[in-house]
Amino acid sequence: MRIESQSGEISKHKVDALVIGVWADGSLPGIAQEVNQATGGALARLVEAKEISGKCGDVATLLAPAGVEALQVLVVGMGKPSELTRGVAFRLGATAAKTLATKPRESVALAFTSDWKDELVESAVCGALVGCVGQDLYKSERRLQPFQALHVWGASEGAMRTGRILGEAVNLTRSLVNEPPCEIYPAALADRIQQAMQACGVECEVWDKARLQDERCGSLLAVARGSSREPRLVIMKYNGGLPGEAVLGLVGKGVTFDSGGLSIKPTEGMLAMKCDMAGAATVVGAMEAIARLKLPVNVIGLCGLVENMISGDAYKLGDVLKARNGKTIEVHNTDAEGRLVLADVLDVAVERGATRLIDLATLTGACVVALGNDVAGLMSNDQTWCDTVKASSDAVGEQAWQLPMFAEYGEQIRGDVADIKNVGSGRWGGAITAAKFLEEFVAGKPWTHIDIAGPAFLERSKPYLDAGASGAFVRTLVDVARHWN
Ligand code: BES
Ligand code: MN
Ligand code: ZN
Repeated sequence: MRIESQSGEISKHKVDALVIGVWADGSLPGIAQEVNQATGGALARLVEAKEISGKCGDVATLLAPAGVEALQVLVVGMGKPSELTRGVAFRLGATAAKTLATKPRESVALAFTSDWKDELVESAVCGALVGCVGQDLYKSERRLQPFQALHVWGASEGAMRTGRILGEAVNLTRSLVNEPPCEIYPAALADRIQQAMQACGVECEVWDKARLQDERCGSLLAVARGSSREPRLVIMKYNGGLPGEAVLGLVGKGVTFDSGGLSIKPTEGMLAMKCDMAGAATVVGAMEAIARLKLPVNVIGLCGLVENMISGDAYKLGDVLKARNGKTIEVHNTDAEGRLVLADVLDVAVERGATRLIDLATLTGACVVALGNDVAGLMSNDQTWCDTVKASSDAVGEQAWQLPMFAEYGEQIRGDVADIKNVGSGRWGGAITAAKFLEEFVAGKPWTHIDIAGPAFLERSKPYLDAGASGAFVRTLVDVARHWN
């Protein structure tokens, strides 16, 4: 999509659709006043009659209004000026784009962004790119069609450029997750990651099964054993900082399909399990954006890629595994596989010099029970680091909520035969016992775990986002990297 900055007389601007905004109290921002004048006060009359609402996210369409060249004007409710955050700007841009992408359109102008700060324009452009792409990758006729060109009123070149980078990164994550599991198995995903990283100048190393064996990744390898698709570990390296400076470590769960293994999932629970590599895809999207933004920070990204399947060689309940850091693990449930994969990947991340860690994983249904579909769980061994991550997620409008890590939860995963077991005693507090398991593998480094089982994959579409992969937390990770120093 072409993205161009525009200025001048809005009513003379020839486009397929012109997007303007109205505030919650019914007042019109400057650019909308111009449209109002050009249309002989039509806009103000419609607002007055409550045909057009300023409630955040409401939309109304004026087809071919007299006085303006645009074929249609989409009026978007922007809520209150005091509540206009980056998260709101993202959703407004996305709502407008999703509304207009239902037909092929050559050009769309976003003119609600005039006199917005750069960070809001960036978020709106990002949202517009995300809103007009859907999950229907294999439909003969797509339900959402990106426009040829996006015109943004009064935007700086910089904000348009960074907005595009962020939007494309979120969409990269989404498309990797939305692809079916027959296309995205560990080796195939590793190839795609390598391609994406080559394009943005990020070093990329891939460990195959033999290397994983040499590296004693017994926990990850056990999960992979039931599948005919061999596992991979991808290590991405971006050196935007100086040598010797602190290293941000991003770790992602990349289970390309989670059948549950011998503790097999029922059909309903299994259907969406191509989304179980969303953590890895989020790390990939964030690495791409961080590199293209040339942020002055050293980052390593690691993705543990396996398929959790069943065969005569699948790992079994009661098996004892030896993780890379030497700890032994009893398997009590083969569907608690994500933590087994992450155990070894976290250990590699620490060995490769990560000074602070964030891992992202569609780890537990329990987290969705606790917080619902839209909110991620945050769990950490370091309150300062957790606060930093939370501040970024708040700033970009991706919702997360911290869960406690009391020692009692750790007691629940003590093993009988081995050091630890891969599930707690009973299912209560399952999001936290899973995090307690991960904590065993971070060697005491500041670490924050983000359980994205809820927000990574939407069952139903939202006004601003198609159903399927959301790309949630790519923007949070980039914001963390932006505030690294
Ligand atoms: N990938 C699932 C978690 C999940 C559930 C992700 C729903 C997205 C949506 C994970 O591997 C899993 O199966 N977890 C089990 C853990 C249990 C066996 C302790 C769960 O949550 O039921
Ligand atoms: Mn599972
Ligand atoms: Zn899983």
